[in-house]
Amino acid sequence: MNITFYTTIVFIHVVSAVLSIGPLFIIIPLINRLRKMVEANEEIYLSLIQVIVRVVMHAGHVLVVSGVLLILSGPWPWHTSWVVMTVIVMGISGVFLATAFTRVLRRFHEPGLDKLYILYRLKRTTWIYIGLMIIMLWLMVQKPIFW
Ligand code: HEM
Repeated sequence: MNITFYTTIVFIHVVSAVLSIGPLFIIIPLINRLRKMVEANEEIYLSLIQVIVRVVMHAGHVLVVSGVLLILSGPWPWHTSWVVMTVIVMGISGVFLATAFTRVLRRFHEPGLDKLYILYRLKRTTWIYIGLMIIMLWLMVQKPIFW
């Protein structure tokens, strides 16, 4: 067995990757249920979506911190092309998630707003975020050399 500081951090990094992507897939069926407009269930689904967004956010922070530790303690330098590309995509999705989800969720209760349109935006936001996460997962696992 060869358990080192580095391999332990890789494991933590992968677990946090799972937790930053997986829960997002639950948001989609929750949005579909919200579209059915059963008022009684609205708060339950909305609070579940909020919990999911919070889990994904915390896991995302662990993902970045463990990623930085891997760079500091491991064999890959900062300028490795797949690392640079991941950091760039991460920058985009960080700004994106930090604002988009909370902004859309906050607007849900504003009177006079078209709920169906807000749900459409929430679904689109979720898919874009899943897409960005999958791109980063690909970069991390395939480690393509661009330059
Ligand atoms: C600041 C951003 C990040 C940095 C600096 C970083 C850095 C690293 C490093 C150095 C490794 C170790 C590679 C190895 O020794 O084999 C690694 C592995 C991994 N990373 Fe990241 N990472 C970051 C973000 C992410 C993100 C956003 C995801 C998922 C969406 C992710 C998923 C993975 C996975 C699945 C592995 C295991 C792949 C393997 O060992 O072949 N990482 N990461």
